[in-house]
Amino acid sequence: MTDLSQPLAEAKPAAIAPPLWLLAELTYRCPLHCVFCYNPVNYTDHKSELSTAQWVDVLRQARALGAAQLGFSGGEPLLRDDLEELVGEARKLGFYTNLITSGIGLTDKRLDALKDAGLDHIQLSFQDSTQELNDFLSSTRTFELKNRVAQAIKAHGFPMVLNCVLHRYNLPHVDRIIDMALAMGAEYLELANTQYYGWAHANRAQLMPTAEQLKEAEAVVERYRREIGDKCKIFFVVPDYFERRPKRCMNGWGSVFLGIAPDGAALPCHTARSLPGLTFPNVTDTPIKDIWYESDAFNRFRGFDWMKEPCRSCDEKTIDLGGCRCQAYLLTQDPANADPVCDKSPHHESVIKVVHAAAARAPDEHPVLFRNDANSRRLATSGDDDPPTQGAPT
Ligand code: FES
Repeated sequence: MTDLSQPLAEAKPAAIAPPLWLLAELTYRCPLHCVFCYNPVNYTDHKSELSTAQWVDVLRQARALGAAQLGFSGGEPLLRDDLEELVGEARKLGFYTNLITSGIGLTDKRLDALKDAGLDHIQLSFQDSTQELNDFLSSTRTFELKNRVAQAIKAHGFPMVLNCVLHRYNLPHVDRIIDMALAMGAEYLELANTQYYGWAHANRAQLMPTAEQLKEAEAVVERYRREIGDKCKIFFVVPDYFERRPKRCMNGWGSVFLGIAPDGAALPCHTARSLPGLTFPNVTDTPIKDIWYESDAFNRFRGFDWMKEPCRSCDEKTIDLGGCRCQAYLLTQDPANADPVCDKSPHHESVIKVVHAAAARAPDEHPVLFRNDANSRRLATSGDDDPPTQGAPT
């Protein structure tokens, strides 16, 4: 395996563009326990959070560097009672701001305050169009509350993206999920097929859909797109395990995306913390400009020099940039390998096997693992990969 703890031997690429998109993960705390959460499975190892003043400093530094889009995320960002203050500061700095939320805690009072602070946009997540599945997948009773929050968001005049992560259990409900988004007046609907990182990777056997399910869901989406026109823009994020070429992950490592974790670690992608050996700089002791341009972590997979074969000599490497580093690690144990989603990868068979296994198994064969502190502590402790699980509704 490529040893990421060794300093980079090669020079960094000559031209590095500034970051455009800042994701402020204000906290890993969350009232929900979603089985596909992208937070690190060992999030309990990273409990500290930046102070309000430290976040304000992050916003100022990132904006000065060129970042223009800002997402407030988590965990659940509403659990920070300084959210309105941070939104106000971001607005003054000229960011376009988006709140990425489960909706839990988004009261009329907070919506008023966020409006006054200048928040531009809200992304509200649902787990399904049915109460039973929504509540099961988040291990909470929140479906009715989310419905009320969606109405309140629209009543306050915010543009709204409804986000629903898709998988084996709710793909057959895609028509009802679209109807729900239309009834709520969402301007956008993001139907994001599960990407298998973090908790979703731990639940991969349970969540992986069949090729037939995906085909049917895509046909439903196409039909709705023709019928509803511009009324609601539907994004259908394809699941890359079913592709033959990898995605251009994050538009390239250290290319446009700068994520700041709750404890101040600077990350080139949401799940970079899963890569062993790589040390991520922290905004509490390093200026963001140095992190972006000079750090080993951000330069590690920029350009093409880090690539091995078959990527190094591939005539498509400028299109997909070798795919996703985190996926390469999860599926081949070497983050410098080609993303095995690519059928030119010698490890592509590992992806095929997962897809075939999903098609062959019975629906409730693998109970799910909820995101919670107890499971996180167990997963963080090496050797215990068998925390208590719960069967999904069939
Ligand atoms: Fe980390 Fe793709 S998710 S590089």
